[in-house]
Amino acid sequence: MIYLADSANAKDVAALLDRFPIEGVTTNPTIVAREKADFGRLLTDMRKVIGPDLMLHAQTMQTEACAMAREALALKEALGGNFYVKIPATAEGLKAIRMLKGMGVRTTATAIFSAQQALLCARAGADFVAPYVNKLSDICVDAISVVGEIAREFDRFSLNTRILSASFRNVDQVNQVALMGSHAITLPVPFFDKLIDHPMTSLALQGFEADWRAVYGDKKPEDMI
Ligand code: E4P
Repeated sequence: MIYLADSANAKDVAALLDRFPIEGVTTNPTIVAREKADFGRLLTDMRKVIGPDLMLHAQTMQTEACAMAREALALKEALGGNFYVKIPATAEGLKAIRMLKGMGVRTTATAIFSAQQALLCARAGADFVAPYVNKLSDICVDAISVVGEIAREFDRFSLNTRILSASFRNVDQVNQVALMGSHAITLPVPFFDKLIDHPMTSLALQGFEADWRAVYGDKKPEDMI
């Protein structure tokens, strides 16, 4: 499973990239609006920070297929590099995904709440589908099972579409979708520390430090070889 950052803040992503193995960035209209800044500037700054090779997923605000496709082409032209346009999982979205596939524009079908939405978007030619894990849990649906159904159906029907799970509230949800076969996840920047930090790791390090100091004091291994 690969990790992406769900953010429109280039500074935050730059700091994250310095520490974590991130393969790209996803945004949506809510995440962009949160920055209260010029949309074009936010995304071109993001592209500068992540470079041409990492994935950048940006969402269309259009709702009609031809308008979605036109906007997708404009976004791809402006943002270049490894680009995916996020298309909502609607009937018009399916049409747009098919059109964009024909034009060589890669797509991420977003706001997925069922396995059938995912399967249709995959059949239309989506490169990724993005099931919303916590938003499913919020409406009392077993989100992990939905991700598992999508993974099994893609596998059963030999579809190359990848699952990019989104919307998380805790580490367990992340781990469960990994076990179900999600190919990728996207997380808000502050979430990454929750994945790596563990109190038992801190405790183990304190033990190493105390044991070392008891014998060698302030000396470091590099001073002694
Ligand atoms: C998808 O674009 C986002 O990752 C998703 O909407 C975030 O969901 P949340 O608002 O539940 O965090």
